[in-house]
Amino acid sequence: MLANKTIVLGITGGIAAYKVADLASKLTQAGARVEIIMTKSATEFITPLTFRSLTHRTVVTEMFNVNSEFSIGHVALATAADVIVIAPATANIVAKIAGGIADDMLSATVLATEAPVIVAPAMNVNMYQNPATQDNLAKLKARGFIFVGPGYGRLASGKIGMGRLTDIEEIIGTIKQVLGRSGDLAGKNIVVTAGGTQEAIDPVRYIGNRSSGKMGYAVAEAARDRGAKVTLITAPTALSKPVGVAVTPVTTAVQMKKAVVKAVAQTDVLIMVAAVADYQPKSVAKGKIKKETTGAGLTLELVKTPDILAEVKGDFIKVGFAAETEDIVANARKKLANKQLDIIAVNDVTSPDSGFGVDTNRVTLISHDGKVESLPLMSKREVADRILDKVVGMLTKKPQSQMRRGVS
Ligand code: PMT
Repeated sequence: MLANKTIVLGITGGIAAYKVADLASKLTQAGARVEIIMTKSATEFITPLTFRSLTHRTVVTEMFNVNSEFSIGHVALATAADVIVIAPATANIVAKIAGGIADDMLSATVLATEAPVIVAPAMNVNMYQNPATQDNLAKLKARGFIFVGPGYGRLASGKIGMGRLTDIEEIIGTIKQVLGRSGDLAGKNIVVTAGGTQEAIDPVRYIGNRSSGKMGYAVAEAARDRGAKVTLITAPTALSKPVGVAVTPVTTAVQMKKAVVKAVAQTDVLIMVAAVADYQPKSVAKGKIKKETTGAGLTLELVKTPDILAEVKGDFIKVGFAAETEDIVANARKKLANKQLDIIAVNDVTSPDSGFGVDTNRVTLISHDGKVESLPLMSKREVADRILDKVVGMLTKKPQSQMRRGVS
């Protein structure tokens, strides 16, 4: 989604400037055209050559340069930008922008642009907490500037507090979210579930499954990048919380059902990627079950969990996943019908390169009208986008979909 986008990356004079080399590199690798503007102070911390080498573009450091490829520099970059990112943003640049000052290339470009501006502050904790800085930040927020960070932690001064440049991945997530605002899911609410639920046996043990959450998180991020307002209901995973997505953590199938029922009251689409346990222990032992007390073995009595996807009903498009090991398409068709789905994505979880844990998946998409499309092996992100392509198509024909299911 970053391919062919023009991102103007403004770097100001803070020690965190070195971290932004990684940001410039990642954005360039993702296919974006990254135009760097460095303030004079920024060049004291890191050289323009570093950014030139990473982006393969001329780095702008001066307001007036007769040799510049940008005819009237600040206007050219201000117009070309799909988004402007200032990282690290010092107290000084925040103050200049808040005051409408345009005495260097970066502040002049920001004043001249109509593109969204993302600001990633990084500064000494006292400078950050100073009422002057706080007033300036509030002014920019009120004017629609988008802030990411700062984070809390150890600062270059040795102090602990607010003022660290936020994680580069968080800045990239925010850029994607901002660029996706006019995508084909703009204005739509999408609820996604992910991960494998855990059903407690006692305070130490649980019944779980092998879901890593990767497929569900890929769907949530893809929907965000296409402009949707995403709610991600997630069972425990080792993944980082996606930026720009409302995350509801749950543990059990019963908790997931409660969260889904609440979230779908306001949704256009529900995509259940989670591997929900089909059974839970009938009762949970209060203390740890001791080996010495169970004789030769331990018998657990299990009861069924609610079938969330089958039970939840409403005026929204319902997409399910099916984890199958045999008769894949036939079994998925039964689930599509029984759970009254618009689409089911079935994956063969016996294959080592698809299903649980891995970054790739090979799915077959079956629609309620009987259409079957077998996709080749691709990244989970690509699978997510292929599913969302179908969802977008259905959203445009939504009245028929509602009539078919007899919306309650
Ligand atoms: O998380 P990863 O490691 O990336 O792995 C991805 C995945 C293999 C988990 C994913 O691609 C997948 O197949 N998810 C569905 C797993 C599953 O539970 O399949 P199922 O065939 O048992 O259930 C069918 C559908 O009903 C699913 O959408 C499931 O979320 C839903 N369900 C199941 C049981 C239940 N009690 N309630 C439900 O809502």
